[in-house]
Amino acid sequence: MTTWTPQSWRQLPIQQQPTYQDQQLLQQVEQQLHKYPPLVFAQETRDLYSQLGQVAEGNGFLLQGGDCAESFNDFNAPKIRDTFKVLLQMAVVLTFAGGLPVVKVARMAGQYAKPRSSDLETINGISLPSYRGDIVNSFEFTEQARQPDPNRLITAYHHSAATLNLLRAFAQGGLADLHQVSRWNMGFVESNPLKERYQSVATRIQEALRFMETCGITAQNSPSIRETQLYTSHEALLLNYEEALTRRDTLTGKWYDCSAHMVWIGERTRQLDHAHLAFFKGIHNPVGVKIGPGMQEDDLIRLIDALNPENNAGRLTLITRMGADKLADKLPALVRRVKQEGRKVVWSSDPMHGNTVKASNDYKTRDFEAILKEIRNFFAVHKAEGTHAGGIHLEMTGEHVTECTGGAYGLSENDLSKRYFTQCDPRLNADQVLELAFLIADTLSSARK
Ligand code: PEP
Ligand code: CO
Repeated sequence: MTTWTPQSWRQLPIQQQPTYQDQQLLQQVEQQLHKYPPLVFAQETRDLYSQLGQVAEGNGFLLQGGDCAESFNDFNAPKIRDTFKVLLQMAVVLTFAGGLPVVKVARMAGQYAKPRSSDLETINGISLPSYRGDIVNSFEFTEQARQPDPNRLITAYHHSAATLNLLRAFAQGGLADLHQVSRWNMGFVESNPLKERYQSVATRIQEALRFMETCGITAQNSPSIRETQLYTSHEALLLNYEEALTRRDTLTGKWYDCSAHMVWIGERTRQLDHAHLAFFKGIHNPVGVKIGPGMQEDDLIRLIDALNPENNAGRLTLITRMGADKLADKLPALVRRVKQEGRKVVWSSDPMHGNTVKASNDYKTRDFEAILKEIRNFFAVHKAEGTHAGGIHLEMTGEHVTECTGGAYGLSENDLSKRYFTQCDPRLNADQVLELAFLIADTLSSARK
């Protein structure tokens, strides 16, 4: 594409965007952001690309997770630390039990823009613009709060920068040391019914570490024991923001969206001739696209070819989000066709977005069993088709929230009101995530046998 520029998308139809009253302010903000330093460095993005290339070839597993929507108000170190910890803990369980390197990608440091099913939200007869994520407007249900405010792009940038800074410190500064990770069961899983299982994995890791130390491989001389690599990602929905952070890499001359290492397009904005596709065509990041149950085989091939015309392994992750039953019905034909046509992709399962339901008390929730069922069906389809079930994509938090029902603690609909904090979709809590890690690890290791 010789004529691509970061602004090309502006000529095309676009879905799910806010209507800004003050266009002049919006432009000022965009110009300001354009001058700010990039949040990630292109070389890191290329490293992720090549690791995802390995996943596409069957030699790795992608673990992607974090909040549905990050929030400006709920922005603090413990929250970032706890989500970091639970992601790492899950990765350790998957690596150890599944026997594959796990590529860790956080839905953090930029997950601020949300597509909505309706432009307006109506409460008690009053209709206001829907909440579209903290980068656009505020969650509070008042006329002023729901007005899209361009200054929020700058706030999102600073929050992302601070989050990323802490994630990098945690990843490299000792918190991710395998000695530590295997000890994190304290408190965190203290009362968890799966405690013994986790402890047995932790003990085996500690034994392996002791053995390696005896052989001279220590945290001091081996960075891979002491440090980890955690990449960032978000849905690149608000293109004004993404464009402003898109830079030409001085080493390669290629364009990268430097707001995150990986970005994805949602199910609602992936029309072939629309703005989001056009924007994604020109950036060289690894990218994802969500695939719902309505996807047809021919359309999928067209979508793959639009996003990855050179068929590079690692460029494209297809994130299926169909619902447990629909997936078993729809996924096989898609997987078969992609395999037949020799297209290189990472297949990842988002078991969250096709399993959202309304509880009898009106809370938006998801049931642990349905989530697990979608994951199991995803693995089963790939096993049957001889393809690699390459990853999972979760909405989760390290906090002890009560947003999804089920799991080892048997959260019921009546528990939902206790700690329901999400500003958007219901997330798995720390215990549910860890439980899922064990169940996926079992599936992963049996899939490899
Ligand atoms: C999301 O990942 O939060 C999301 C909105 O997903 P989807 O586009 O699949 O609905
Ligand atoms: Co969501």
